[in-house]
Amino acid sequence: KIIPVIMAGGKGTRLWPLSRAAAPKQFIQVVNEKTLFQETLERVADPAIYEAPVVITNQDFRFLVAEQSRAVAATLSGILLEPVARNTAAAIAAAAVFLGKSFGENAILQLLAADHDIDAGEHYRQAITTAREMAGLGKIVAFGITPTEPATGYGYIEQGSQLIPGVYEIKRFIEKPQIERAQEMMDAGGFLWNSGIFMSRVDLLISELQTHSPDVLGAAREAVEKASVDLDFVRLDQASFSSSPDISIDYAVMEKTQNAAVVPSSFEWSDLGSWDAVWKLCQKDDKGNLVVGNASVLDTEGSLILSRHSHLAVQGLKDVAVIAAEDAVYVGRLEDAQKVGRLVKDLASRQ
Ligand code: GDD
Ligand code: MG
Repeated sequence: KIIPVIMAGGKGTRLWPLSRAAAPKQFIQVVNEKTLFQETLERVADPAIYEAPVVITNQDFRFLVAEQSRAVAATLSGILLEPVARNTAAAIAAAAVFLGKSFGENAILQLLAADHDIDAGEHYRQAITTAREMAGLGKIVAFGITPTEPATGYGYIEQGSQLIPGVYEIKRFIEKPQIERAQEMMDAGGFLWNSGIFMSRVDLLISELQTHSPDVLGAAREAVEKASVDLDFVRLDQASFSSSPDISIDYAVMEKTQNAAVVPSSFEWSDLGSWDAVWKLCQKDDKGNLVVGNASVLDTEGSLILSRHSHLAVQGLKDVAVIAAEDAVYVGRLEDAQKVGRLVKDLASRQ
């Protein structure tokens, strides 16, 4: 069976002010009833395919994880807690070391982001089955999505020749390119977006970390060895974990490894990383407006209007995002949605 490892320690700043330091994107209701984290749990709930998942997150989010899991009746194999954020390479290294001890080095892990919107239908299930086979044969398998625009917020995978039916070599992995480079790849063809979901055997993940990021692996090993267990929580050792470099798995391993493969798939997928992505993904009214929660519009077009609290009324605007949280409001052009992260940095520097 596959062991799901849900990475849920990111900040998700571009969905400010709904996504906050205390409750980032994966733990909030963006548009649906359930949070993105809960939807991720439901995608790995089939006991015929999956073991109970392991969640790795920041210690600040431990109650969010525990409560939201309970609310959808999900049983977890454990919750690994990071004392500080050291990005996804360290998180994955710690999870791989921890799970290698309990499930053995041949165990197959599926690494999942906790903040994606996915249609887990037939295409998705087929991709999982195909990837499971390849991972067993000894590759780190990525899931590739056909790009629809020269996005700069994603990694790109150049597809090589076929390894087994449905699985291809990765010629190159390019994490978050500049816009010019992204456009070149779109024009050239043969490139896929990296969906941020991976499947691998524990031993291969560990040996690739050893080769390409020994400092990350060393810190993770020590942090697991010295971890303290308290109920469902496994607290990684603070001093050891803090000594890890702050680097994502994409830069630490995926751009460097010779042992990766890709399953191109066409399941519906969105990172939902920014307000324009939310707007694009959801069903809009005949004026192109997406109006969510306690909100209304008049003479307004192509906009995303969302309020979870007091009533929000918008009149006479076009192509904007107006997002009202309990204690903060954002107003901006939808085309500037990628820049909200900068605004959040600026706000933090004023406090
Ligand atoms: N435990 C833990 N600790 N989880 C983390 C940390 C951390 O320090 N940092 C991020 N995560 C989690 C996030 O919550 C998210 O679920 C996942 O790891 C991916 O992190 P993001 O920060 O959202 O990455 P990204 O979206 O910028 O880029 C990655 O995903 C893209 C697709 O969404 C890359 O893999 C790209 O190549 C990829 O295209
Ligand atoms: Mg993301």
